[in-house]
Amino acid sequence: MPLVLAIETSCDETSIAVVEDRKILSNVVLSQIEIHQKFGGVVPEIAARQHLRNLPIIYNQAIKESSIHVSEVDAIAVTIGPGLIGALLVGLSFAKGIAVSLRKPLVGVNHLLGHVCAANLFFDRLSPPYIALLVSGGHTELLLFDKSTTQPKILGKTLDDAAGEAFDKVARLLNLGYPGGPAIEKISKNGDPRRYNFPRAILERENFDFSFSGLKTSVLYLLQKEKNVAPWDIAASFQETVVDILVQKATNALEKTGLRKLVVSGGVASNARLREKLNQRAAEMGFELYIPPKIFCTDNAAMIAQAAIEMIKEGVSFPLSVTADPALSF
Ligand code: KG4
Ligand code: ZN
Repeated sequence: MPLVLAIETSCDETSIAVVEDRKILSNVVLSQIEIHQKFGGVVPEIAARQHLRNLPIIYNQAIKESSIHVSEVDAIAVTIGPGLIGALLVGLSFAKGIAVSLRKPLVGVNHLLGHVCAANLFFDRLSPPYIALLVSGGHTELLLFDKSTTQPKILGKTLDDAAGEAFDKVARLLNLGYPGGPAIEKISKNGDPRRYNFPRAILERENFDFSFSGLKTSVLYLLQKEKNVAPWDIAASFQETVVDILVQKATNALEKTGLRKLVVSGGVASNARLREKLNQRAAEMGFELYIPPKIFCTDNAAMIAQAAIEMIKEGVSFPLSVTADPALSF
C-alpha cells in the first residue's frame, strides 16, 4: 500500500496531506480566501508568498496529525499544474527539497487528475470504465476513463469560461464578492430559479463541449436593462441554468458511451443544487454516481496524494527534474 505525502499549492489553498491508499492520515488545508477577498479575486504574487509562509507550518502539522515518521513515506507527490506558475513553483521547490533530503521518489501530479481522484479516495468500488465531469474554477471537462484511472480521453471541454469562473463572474456582477460559487448558492435559496430564462448553449446530444460566457453576458444585459431586479432571482436562475447544462451534458455522455458510472468533482461539485439534480437523475436513469464529500471537491492535498497513488499503481513515475506547467492538460 503506497504511503504518500502530498503538497498542493496551485491556487489559493495551501495544503499538505498524508494518505495510505484511500486512508487519509492527515489533510491540512489552509485557505487564503480572506486575504484575496478584498481584491475581488486571487492575486498570484500574494498567493505565492502566502504558500511560502504557510508550507513549513502545515508540513509539521500534517506529519504530526498523521502519526507517521516522515521517513516511512514511499513517495512525495506535488501538483505540477495547471495553476498559477508562482504558486506551483513554491510547492514544487518545497516538494523537491523533501524528496532529495529523504531520498524518496517525487511524483508530479496533474491537478485535474487530483480532482477526479478525490472520488477514488472515498469509493473503493470505483473502477474504470467511467465518465468524469470535472467542474472547477479554471476547468470544465468531460473525461472518459476507459481502462486507466490516470489517463483519460477528453470528450469535451469549455470553449470559453469554466463553470466556476462563470459563478465567480456573475457573483461579481451581483456584488456578492469572492469566491462566487458559495455566495450564489447561498442567496439562491431565497430566489426563484424559473424567474429568468437564460440561454443554455450547445446542448446538442453529440457535442460535449461547454460554453458559459454567453450566459454571463445575458446576466450583464439583464442588469443593464432592468433597474429593480432581485439579485436572488438572478442568482437562482443562473445557478439552475448552469446545473441543467452540466447534468444534461454528463448524462448525454453516459448515453453516448453506454457507461453507467459518473464521477463529478472540482469546486463546483460542492454546489448543493448540482448534487441534488445529479442524484435525481441517477435515480431516474439508474446510473452509479460518485461525488466526493463537499470539502474534498475544492482544492486539497489528499486528492493529490490519491492521484499519485493511482499513478504509482499504474507504473507512472516522474524524474526529479520535473517542472511546473501552468497550462498542463491531459
Ligand atoms: O476546484 P477549486 O477549489 O479550484 C480550482 O481548481 O479552480 O474550484 C474553485 C471554484 C471557484 O470558481 C468557486 O466559485 C467554485 O469552485 N465553487 C462553487 C461552490 N464552491 C466553490 N461553485 C458553485 N457552488 C459552490 N458551492
Ligand atoms: Zn482545483
